[in-house]
Amino acid sequence: MRKFYVVGNLKMNMLSREEAAQYLSVLNREVHDKQYQHVTLVVCPSFLYLSQFDDLPEGIAKGAQNLFSEKSGAYTGEISPVMLKNDGVEYVIVGHSERRRYAGETNEMIRGKALSAIRNHLTPIVCIGETKEERHAEETDSVLMLQVKTLFSGFSKSQAENVIVAYEPRWAIGTDVVPTTGEILGVRVLLRKLFTEIFDARTAQRMTILYGGSVKRSFLPAVSWEAGMDGVLVGRESLFPHELVKMMNLFEEEAEKE
Ligand code: 13P
Repeated sequence: MRKFYVVGNLKMNMLSREEAAQYLSVLNREVHDKQYQHVTLVVCPSFLYLSQFDDLPEGIAKGAQNLFSEKSGAYTGEISPVMLKNDGVEYVIVGHSERRRYAGETNEMIRGKALSAIRNHLTPIVCIGETKEERHAEETDSVLMLQVKTLFSGFSKSQAENVIVAYEPRWAIGTDVVPTTGEILGVRVLLRKLFTEIFDARTAQRMTILYGGSVKRSFLPAVSWEAGMDGVLVGRESLFPHELVKMMNLFEEEAEKE
């Protein structure tokens, strides 16, 4: 059965509990009692509001935007995977380019976070992607290869199958510029080839790969199923719950056709 994901990365938005509550009430109203068989929506609010996202409608899961690789101890300001799990979180974004940029996260650190997430029964959504400069220098493939090789080093096949990979070209984030369907498809082919080399064809086939960067409903097909992707990671548009639900509906319709 074909399965799609819509992941809403709310980033550092919604500045009060009231705003979070308002967001939730719109989300609940939009989903109403619709049943989704083929699509899961993962909503990733700020840590502060996670506990408000407890009673989500069916088909919607709670995600976090980051975690720390250790379970507990003297790590001021960090959030443990166990805390997230105990709070009902199921998914966690790791290695977002904004964390690479503003918090100095490296591929090695991100690898540790992804492994820690898996060991603590969370599904990591691991972000990879090239910069504008790297793209212009035609280094996209080599950058992605290095990221994948470092991030997945030492992973078992079953651990790899538990990872969701998000291809988010940095130049497409927040810019309203997106790659062509052909470019995304090219990345998908490259990733499947890499995962086949590192693991095997079966594992590569089972891994979930999403596209992220300036996703909007109007061109959802072009950046997702037409490009061989299993869903999308959405930034700005995820601030509008009705847009997320409309995207879910489009994925559901598409999956039913297949
Ligand atoms: P935008 O959709 O706002 O470009 O953000 C993408 C993103 O960074 C999602 O993680």
